[in-house]
Amino acid sequence: MKVRYLGHACFEFVAEKRILIDPFISQNPLCPIKLEELAEPDIILVTHGHADHLGDAIEISKKTGATIVAIHEVAIHAQLKGAVAEGMNIGGSISLEGVNIYMTEAKHSSAIDTNISGGHATGFVFGLEGKHIYHAGDTGIFRDMKLIGKLFDIYLALLPIGDRYTMGVKHAAIATKMLKPKYVIPMHYNTFPVIQQNPEEFKKLAEEESKAKVLILKPGEEIEL
Ligand code: NI
Ligand code: MN
Repeated sequence: MKVRYLGHACFEFVAEKRILIDPFISQNPLCPIKLEELAEPDIILVTHGHADHLGDAIEISKKTGATIVAIHEVAIHAQLKGAVAEGMNIGGSISLEGVNIYMTEAKHSSAIDTNISGGHATGFVFGLEGKHIYHAGDTGIFRDMKLIGKLFDIYLALLPIGDRYTMGVKHAAIATKMLKPKYVIPMHYNTFPVIQQNPEEFKKLAEEESKAKVLILKPGEEIEL
């Protein structure tokens, strides 16, 4: 599978399907591509209602017909705005275009606006090429990460390390130990001054704490995994 990091929490996966996650593109200071340059995704996963995650999802869906998958409240909001969306909730799963998607909890908030609730913040475990990928969304560390690591044999975990709004490097290293993934890519750092972090510090700690290999991707960088 091809994995491209577009900065912040935005990733594009290309395998049997093209999956875009948290498409914060046009307003993302780290995203090296323009919205027009993005290939049509099959599925758009949105972890929660905050603007740096919902991002351009509605516009992309309206333009391409790609289905947004999000928690019920965010999905309803997207549908009301004219997007194609499938709602679900924490602990449930959905199979869409042959891709299995499971929704996890995230310790975070999710309001779309001051007066529009986005329900709860979430993460996803989804399957590509028979492997499990975990995108944690925005979250603090929580004990059930150990359970997620038990429910799924995680090939790749995408974990926030920016601190302040999510886990920082130390907690993300402990999260890595609980999840037992083969690979980890840190995310949600250095986009703004308040979430400046050194990913090398995370790599050092996580590789000490676990058997995982930490891959640090620059925004725009793509790897084959
Ligand atoms: Ni958030
Ligand atoms: Mn965020």
